[in-house]
Amino acid sequence: MSEIDEQLSPVGGSVKKITTNVLLQMKQNGEKISMLTAYDYSLARLVDLAGIDVILVGDSASNVMAGHETTLPITLDQMIYHASSVIRATSRSLVVVDLPFGSYQGNSKEALTSSIRIMKEAGAHAVKLEGGREVKESIDRILTAGIPVMGHLGLTPQSIYKFGTYAVRAREEEERDRLLEDAKILEETGVFGIVLEKIPAELAGEVARSISIPVIGIGAGNQVDGQVLVLHDMLGINKEFSPRFLRRYADLHDAIIESITNYITDVKLKDFPNEKEQY
Ligand code: KIV
Repeated sequence: MSEIDEQLSPVGGSVKKITTNVLLQMKQNGEKISMLTAYDYSLARLVDLAGIDVILVGDSASNVMAGHETTLPITLDQMIYHASSVIRATSRSLVVVDLPFGSYQGNSKEALTSSIRIMKEAGAHAVKLEGGREVKESIDRILTAGIPVMGHLGLTPQSIYKFGTYAVRAREEEERDRLLEDAKILEETGVFGIVLEKIPAELAGEVARSISIPVIGIGAGNQVDGQVLVLHDMLGINKEFSPRFLRRYADLHDAIIESITNYITDVKLKDFPNEKEQY
């Protein structure tokens, strides 16, 4: 851990392994929590090395890795495959894995069975699932097996066909009040943290102040306890997706295309491999 890391991260920077207790301590100390997605060994290794607090093996793998339009098609087996690759790459970050659509909504026993598979077969540290009061019973049951659970409220992409749009959620009073209540219910049930997706910043701040567990935002402003982004979006690999909340930290789309076109040119011109690059 470098000196700058220690300064940036007074709590998280001094620990060898991030746990749910460390995240709670970070909230209590006012230290922001950093979280990014990863779905494969090579990128997860870089994310962990860079010092991220939490890696989310998100069901956004359905879009980013498999090219589906929604998160709905990804299966539990596929999530376990991605999660086990990420786990092999990780030494410091807490790895949270999404329960995919269809693996927990049936009943609480199904939710527990799916969570146990994720913990046992992938070696994950925690699971995340979408929803409020309607998944309370499932969360209760997963927690009885000693599995840490993270909640996800606001825009919940697994319900996209109910919402009909990826627009900002909870602008109206009724939905706003329900979200505040759901956050309380999740806290009381025992989740260690909640992701809030695409809701007004002021509401997200109110949620973060009203509960004692960490609240991590995506498109939810800066009054929350931490931020999460999809790695491929923030690295600029994919140019088509550019919501207002996304900050791009690199332009890998152009960098990768340029490298590949240079390679093609070198091959066609018989410049690659040269004498030093052969046996
Ligand atoms: O699947 C995912 O990447 C997520 C984030 C958007 C929070 O759930």
